[in-house]
Amino acid sequence: MKIILGPASKELGEKTAELTALETVQVAHKTFPDGEAYVRLEGNVQDEFVAIVQTTSPPQDSRFMQLAFIADAAKRNGARKVTAVVPYLAYARQDKIFLQGEGISIETVAQMLEAAGVDALVTVNVHAESALSKFPFPAKTLSAIPLLAEYFAQKGYKKAFALSPDKGARHIAHQAQQVLCGEDGHLEKQRDRYTGQTNQTGKDLNVKGQTVIIFDDIISTGGTIVGAAKILKELGATRVFAACVHPLLIGDAEKRILDAGVEEIVGTDSVSSHVSKVSLAPLLSRELRALKSG
Ligand code: R5P
Repeated sequence: MKIILGPASKELGEKTAELTALETVQVAHKTFPDGEAYVRLEGNVQDEFVAIVQTTSPPQDSRFMQLAFIADAAKRNGARKVTAVVPYLAYARQDKIFLQGEGISIETVAQMLEAAGVDALVTVNVHAESALSKFPFPAKTLSAIPLLAEYFAQKGYKKAFALSPDKGARHIAHQAQQVLCGEDGHLEKQRDRYTGQTNQTGKDLNVKGQTVIIFDDIISTGGTIVGAAKILKELGATRVFAACVHPLLIGDAEKRILDAGVEEIVGTDSVSSHVSKVSLAPLLSRELRALKSG
């Protein structure tokens, strides 16, 4: 097996290859003056099983095109099997029809990747695992929550309260609790599908005097964490931290979160940013080792 270093995740791909002791294939890439993407594999993939490591955080459309073009190039150059390793899988939040007239973006994306030559996909903390069951090839999601919780445990926050900002992500708080060995809980969150506005409540939550770490899959605008932090402060939490797998941090999200009283934001290198303090490399390399030997 060889690891193809997608331009959006070159560093993560290199770290993963190092831990797995797998050979890498570099990708030459450029954008033409009219905005079109170009890629070329700089290594031999004939008869190889290959894993393309390429995240699809913003600019997601051009990164998806690069991924598709790399998959196509790998197949045309003789790769036997192409696994797309996509740490942040964009469009996963449109995984059902919420309002009449919509489509299901994540299914369209999966079909496009299949047409390009992808045979399997591995992602990390996809928004809803159920979306993957509709993919036209085997697809699985890994969880980076234990790695994030371990970061806090190492910093001395063992026994902190692990909170998920909505009921659908309860399993995330529970995974963190397994590492931190404190309590866990969740808020209730409703989203207006037209305006995108959310409303959160924290009834029955006892966090008075506690250090609370909010765990979420994505921080995008920061609205969810800001709302959660405000509730936690009202409920008497003494210290509040935020952890997420995919730190998109759009616009002034980081400032708004810190202004809301969150002491530190911790993310992974699924999306490269200055809060990406936890690497997914150990998680991905474990998975690739299993694929290699299976
Ligand atoms: C939604 O259900 C997700 O799990 C995240 O909570 C959400 O995408 C975060 O978005 P934002 O930072 O814009 O509130």
